[in-house]
Amino acid sequence: MIIGVDYYPEHWDEDMWEKDIRLMAETGVSVVRIAEFAWCRIEPQEGCFDFEWLDRAVDLLEKYGLDIIMCTPTNCPPLWLYEKYPSAVIKDHSGRPIETGIRGHRCYNDPDFVRLSSRVVDVMTKRYGKRKSVKAWQIDNELESNICGCDTCTQRYRSWLKDRYGSLKELNNAYGNTVWSGEFSSWEQIKPPAEGYNRAWLNPGYMLDYLRFASDDMIEFVRTQAEIIRRNCPETVITTNSWFCEKMPDLHKTFKELDFVSYDNYPPLRLPDNGEEYYSHSFHLDFMRGISNKNFCIMEQLSGAMGCWMPMTHTVYPGMIKGYSLQAFAHGADAVLHFRWRTACKGAEMHWHGLIDHSNVPGRRFYEFADLCKEARSLERIRGTGIRSDVAVLYSYDSDMALRLQPQTDGFYYYDQLKAYHGGFSSCGVNVDIISAECDLSKYKIVCAPALYVCPENLRRRLEEYVEQGGTLIITCRSLVKDENNNCIMSQLPAGFDGISGCCVSEYDPVGYDRMTVEGNDGNVYQCTCWCDILNCTGAEPILTYRDGFYKNSAAASVNCFGKGNCYYIGTVLFRDFYRRLAQKILSDRKIEFFPQLPGSVEITVRENEYSTYYFCFNNSYKQVKFVFKGECLELAPFEMKVREVTKNQL
Ligand code: GAL
Repeated sequence: MIIGVDYYPEHWDEDMWEKDIRLMAETGVSVVRIAEFAWCRIEPQEGCFDFEWLDRAVDLLEKYGLDIIMCTPTNCPPLWLYEKYPSAVIKDHSGRPIETGIRGHRCYNDPDFVRLSSRVVDVMTKRYGKRKSVKAWQIDNELESNICGCDTCTQRYRSWLKDRYGSLKELNNAYGNTVWSGEFSSWEQIKPPAEGYNRAWLNPGYMLDYLRFASDDMIEFVRTQAEIIRRNCPETVITTNSWFCEKMPDLHKTFKELDFVSYDNYPPLRLPDNGEEYYSHSFHLDFMRGISNKNFCIMEQLSGAMGCWMPMTHTVYPGMIKGYSLQAFAHGADAVLHFRWRTACKGAEMHWHGLIDHSNVPGRRFYEFADLCKEARSLERIRGTGIRSDVAVLYSYDSDMALRLQPQTDGFYYYDQLKAYHGGFSSCGVNVDIISAECDLSKYKIVCAPALYVCPENLRRRLEEYVEQGGTLIITCRSLVKDENNNCIMSQLPAGFDGISGCCVSEYDPVGYDRMTVEGNDGNVYQCTCWCDILNCTGAEPILTYRDGFYKNSAAASVNCFGKGNCYYIGTVLFRDFYRRLAQKILSDRKIEFFPQLPGSVEITVRENEYSTYYFCFNNSYKQVKFVFKGECLELAPFEMKVREVTKNQL
């Protein structure tokens, strides 16, 4: 396992650099990420480049044997650029520039920005491409799908629509623009949506398309930079650091342009009391691994109390620095870089804590990090091993975006629906992949496709085929509701899936935060919430029945045999105990090894290669736990990870 840090030489007096870098090397750091916000130092005036300081930093890192991830600095263009080319700033809906002084506010399509950002990337990659220590490049920083109202972006949106629909007639038809007299009679009437405007008033077809376009546009920017880097550094590998954000691009599409996925990993510093969200964080890690179906990298890892964008959080609890890095490794992150080496003393982020505090006196968190570096060395043999899963949770970008645009009911969020099933299976100690709609389903014995709200016909067909060929599929309420244009399908729900599910929704009740009661056919009683589908089981066997409401005695969930497989339809939203029991039942039916007696806070993740299977046992809680694992009594301190190796011929 590789451990690294994020370092900002430009933030510190140069006479501190060598001491910092020596300490990094002595501590066991092996890679350092630099330069993602340093454009004003690299090009202090248009066309005048100053790399001497960066050369000295690179020389020092090399002197101490550290590898480098070099970043393109395009997230924060220098102020001279905005002054000379004011069009480079993002515009709001009415074409007004947004205020400068914050980062990430450049328009990806502005011709001057494109020219100048391409040039800085070209010059940098030519200069550092041949340095052996520069092992990888990061493009920009935490890219988002921006909404920009400038003329260039507006024109690009119109051409994107022309390519997609060909004519205004087709486009009006796709969006159903006769509603509220919204038909476009010329392409010039089409504009980007106003930020902050209540999206619910806008046409959902148009809005979903805009988000798709904004994501494609961001990807075009990534492609431009990746091409320059590849041209000048043909041997290198390229990434960009992603995160879960409001203007989330289609990450599956984004990373098709790049060599590996990286993620900024900030697990919550206060664990939930109720246990409903235990596996929430490992969900994010599994999501990142699933983007390219490969091991990935953590480009920024939690190191201390978080603050500045909000009041400060708790500090990291003893065990978390080490435990959360190892948790990321267990889920496939072969390299983890901590953000940041030292807390900034200046600038907006001075309260977002790094490994070392403002005082520059290494303390508890730093020593735990040093311990992590030691342990990482002992886990080196596991780096590169794969993660194989029998269970997948299907993520759909279109459903994610469409549900953000039209929240269905109070408390119903797309990620929560995915996490419920991910958590149910994870709580049994099995690996779970989060996969995209394009992924090969036949690799999995069990596929959960919760809230698959927008389901294109080819995906519907593939799911049907999957069940027919022997797969176990779980679908839920709010599935197969919309077509690709984000229009409701004129059919009983789940649209076009009644044959496979053996049931249809005769009516639904969006109950929001209210709770209802259901009873399982095994006699267990559960609470449910958010949404209640009232099912008409045409061929399926009911497995949950409502115990109250006007639909008392109607089915809330069912299972149906179809072809060689079966399909569960869960028409409501329940709590952890239900998902855990459902997962256990399905895992036993599918004869998959699992661990039924795990304490609620324990995560087991399995990595393997040809020779060995490695069981990562992690205690994600403030309390010591003790349990029997494969015949051994395991005790784990808070946030402790223990790894157990079983060689294949022992299995
Ligand atoms: C990340 C970002 C970093 C830093 C950090 C702490 O999202 O990439 O540059 O801002 O958050 O706020």
